[in-house]
Amino acid sequence: MLYQLNRRRTTVTGKKFYIETYGCQMNVHDSEKAAAVLLGMGYGQVAKPEEADLVLLNTCMVREKPEKKVYSRVGELKRGRRGEKKNDKKEQIIGVMGCVAQSEAQKIFRRAPEVKLVVGTHSIGKLPQLIAELEAGFERAIDVRQTKEPDFLEISPAEHQTPYVAYVTIIEGCDNFCSFCIVPFTRGRERSRPALRILQEVIGLRERGYQEVQLLGQNVNSYRGSFDGVDLSLHSGTEEPFVRLLELLAQRSGMKRIKYTTSHPRDFNARIVEVMDEYENLCPWVHLPAQSGSTRILRLMRRDYSRQEYLERIEAIKKAKRDISITGDMIVGYPGETEADFEETLSLVREVEYDGLYMFKYSPRPNTHAAKRKDSVPEQVKTERLLRLQQVQAEVQRRRYERYIGREVEVLVEGHSARGQGQMTGHTACNKVVNFAASESVVGKLVRVRITSTTQNSLLGELLEG
Ligand code: SAH
Ligand code: SF4
Ligand code: F3S
Repeated sequence: MLYQLNRRRTTVTGKKFYIETYGCQMNVHDSEKAAAVLLGMGYGQVAKPEEADLVLLNTCMVREKPEKKVYSRVGELKRGRRGEKKNDKKEQIIGVMGCVAQSEAQKIFRRAPEVKLVVGTHSIGKLPQLIAELEAGFERAIDVRQTKEPDFLEISPAEHQTPYVAYVTIIEGCDNFCSFCIVPFTRGRERSRPALRILQEVIGLRERGYQEVQLLGQNVNSYRGSFDGVDLSLHSGTEEPFVRLLELLAQRSGMKRIKYTTSHPRDFNARIVEVMDEYENLCPWVHLPAQSGSTRILRLMRRDYSRQEYLERIEAIKKAKRDISITGDMIVGYPGETEADFEETLSLVREVEYDGLYMFKYSPRPNTHAAKRKDSVPEQVKTERLLRLQQVQAEVQRRRYERYIGREVEVLVEGHSARGQGQMTGHTACNKVVNFAASESVVGKLVRVRITSTTQNSLLGELLEG
């Protein structure tokens, strides 16, 4: 997935940078942070790599495919770049940041000699020193140190670049070490941001006109930030930090829509559902990845919950007063997954009735526990299981989406839809895509839309006046 951020064109030094982002929302947010640092150095931001003195690829390592993409993209950039002539003083710097940078470090220089700069996930704030090293004549610059300290690189509300939805980090890193996952290696140990800083950021974003924030963390439920300096007098007295944080933001930030992702089924609990029931601005959407429907596979994956426990969490969500949407992630073809295990995944999907599901074929990742096991499920079996899973989810989703026909929903309009002229697109509070005909004047606004029909991954509707 490739994301485009809003670009700022200010430039003081005359130098320009271009940044391309792969992977999850945290990477999108890290690109905003890198852009803030570079703009602070006097660089201008450009939309085309050919125009840039510095090209940064913000990379993802979660599966083999996005990792490989980095190297093919470096090759393409090299062919397309300027400054290829000998003695051209303006030779463009290609840099790699993000999860591949953190995990592969020096190896990147060997595999892609045109890369001159490697910036780990904890080192975005070091960009000025690293660039200075290159300017001083060093051949290469790298920083991939990890820290256990809270090392949040904070940016001001004005430095966010996503136009209508702002990402706000609440916890970084992950301590779970699910057997298949490289994220704990690329993002380091869990570090929670103080609640007061989060509250101030969300208030600042509201003041700048944002109507929606997404609170980010690999496992938001294990948020353990300090509440120092926060007046908790309005609160219900809950001791659980994540619930407290949700309550604090719901009550005090004035933000219209608050979403959060990702939840972990081991840590997700009924208190979270209660607080969502209580506050309208906590959006009715929970992303709760199961990864498998088989308890045996879940144990091997080191997920720390059984199928039954997962279903209990789902039950709690379904019992809520509000209609809460549930989405998830699923992996097929984990080492040792039998046909019977896979069928349990299918039956779980039917039982939960996800509103959306990201489905992946297992991909062995370096350093992970699962990579030590034989990648035993043949590629063609993985493909076949993925297709069957997609089919089941498509049926489930069709039914889930059709329930919306005739309903009125509130949409935050984000821009033109790919469906063509005069069509606008946005998201509901429960995070569904809605397309409808309207003029450009509604962009950035919360509008009411009546749903008239559905497609596989979106709702179609008509704008209601007033
Ligand atoms: N922190 C989140 C997800 C992080 S990665 C969580 O705990 O759910 C996003 C998704 O990528 C995971 O949920 C998983 O479904 C998928 N994924 C991670 N590692 C993978 C691997 N080695 N092969 C295939 N899919 C993987
Ligand atoms: Fe990866 Fe598991 Fe951490 Fe999610 S919770 S980031 S899947 S190790
Ligand atoms: Fe990818 Fe890193 Fe996110 S591996 S999914 S960009 S945390």
